[in-house]
Amino acid sequence: MPGGEQVKRWRGSGEKMTVSSCVFPTTFNRRLVLEMVCLFFGYRHNFVMRTTQTPPSPHFERFGTGSSVLVGSLFSAIGGFCRAFQQIGAKIMWANEKDRHAVETFQLNFPDVRCLRKSIEELKVYDDALEPVHILTAGFPCQPFSVAGEKLGFKDDRGLLFLEIIRIIREFGKNKPWILLLENVKNFRSHDEGRTFRRVQIEIQKAGYWFSERDSQVLNTATHTNIPQNRERVFMVAMNCDHFPSNSFEFPAALPIETRRNVREFLDLDKKASEEFYFKSSSQYHQLFVEAMNNGEPEAVYQLRRSYVRMNRSKLCFTLMANMGGGGHNEPVIQDGWGIRKLTPRECARLQGYEELKFPEGMARGHLGKQIGNSVTVPLVLRIAENCLLELENAFVRKCINQGETE
Ligand SMILES: C[S@@+](CC[C@H](N)C(=O)[O-])C[C@H]1O[C@@H](n2cnc3c(N)ncnc32)[C@H](O)[C@@H]1O
Repeated sequence: MPGGEQVKRWRGSGEKMTVSSCVFPTTFNRRLVLEMVCLFFGYRHNFVMRTTQTPPSPHFERFGTGSSVLVGSLFSAIGGFCRAFQQIGAKIMWANEKDRHAVETFQLNFPDVRCLRKSIEELKVYDDALEPVHILTAGFPCQPFSVAGEKLGFKDDRGLLFLEIIRIIREFGKNKPWILLLENVKNFRSHDEGRTFRRVQIEIQKAGYWFSERDSQVLNTATHTNIPQNRERVFMVAMNCDHFPSNSFEFPAALPIETRRNVREFLDLDKKASEEFYFKSSSQYHQLFVEAMNNGEPEAVYQLRRSYVRMNRSKLCFTLMANMGGGGHNEPVIQDGWGIRKLTPRECARLQGYEELKFPEGMARGHLGKQIGNSVTVPLVLRIAENCLLELENAFVRKCINQGETE
């Protein structure tokens, strides 16, 4: 099992530097060297640079997985992680979520995926027949760690749900997931002066994974995709010690600012939205918005905080939150040709990268808002998923070579 000490020995002390990244400094070089090694050993491999919807690697067939990377999703909500991994050709084997409304939306969008509706505390690998997976994703509840909450962390029962992820991993025995991909709020790493993160790190290491602080990174939807939403989340990637010699995962880099799209492109501005989205001129907030908009930019996104209205100065949409969908607080607000209105769930879904999200008929706007605000941004996870796929391919190639050597 890798303790903190071992991780340091592998990695040196400074920036993200692993044994493998010393030898193969960039992803591209690593690919090249692996390709040469494969050729040498006579393995056929398709080292095409991956974009969305590319077919999975032939190496997965070798390991009896039926040609796909297999993914399981805990705290799946409406399936943000699942959608991104499906886009790289992975197969979603199962999901778990306890919220009835979120499961309804999930099943409508993933009719072929088994989504177990129950608390993770009741989820059991054997009893629920959870198939082993290569990648386990878990965007575990963030309220205990969020600046918006009381920040009780592990003193809050919801904080302890993290330990359920570890229990499930252990229940897989020899078939533990190869890669864990976790997500939480930005300040997760600094919560309780770093003690929370250290506990998480130790638990993951004890479960048999390479994982330290360097294997986590805060990524922002606005800088790491072309979607103009300010949404910072910490992503953590842990790699199974049985399959990887170290954790050499590389997080995607920020994109050039010129690639960022205009927030108005995500809105339906050519027709009037449903009446319920507009602030009535008699509403107590209408005047607040009028004043802010008269003093601000007409095309910007505004937001009502407790008793004042603020404008986003960076031409971005504010972070979409789970507690949107009430009386107007926290919801992004714009001005269109018909008045001052909140963004619709469809527009919010687009700002999370959902091109074609199906909404269950008759589901209340409050539930939809919560589900979209709770979700990860799909194109951001897609970039992480592509790098996970690279790591898996490399691991499979290593395994092929090792098996070849011992035959
Ligand atoms: C931040 S969201 C996860 C987002 C998601 N991973 C995605 O792909 O977009 C957290 C989810 O955990 C669910 N959840 C909270 N407590 C749970 C529990 N005890 N068991 C299962 N799911 C739970 C919530 O209902 C919520 O949908």
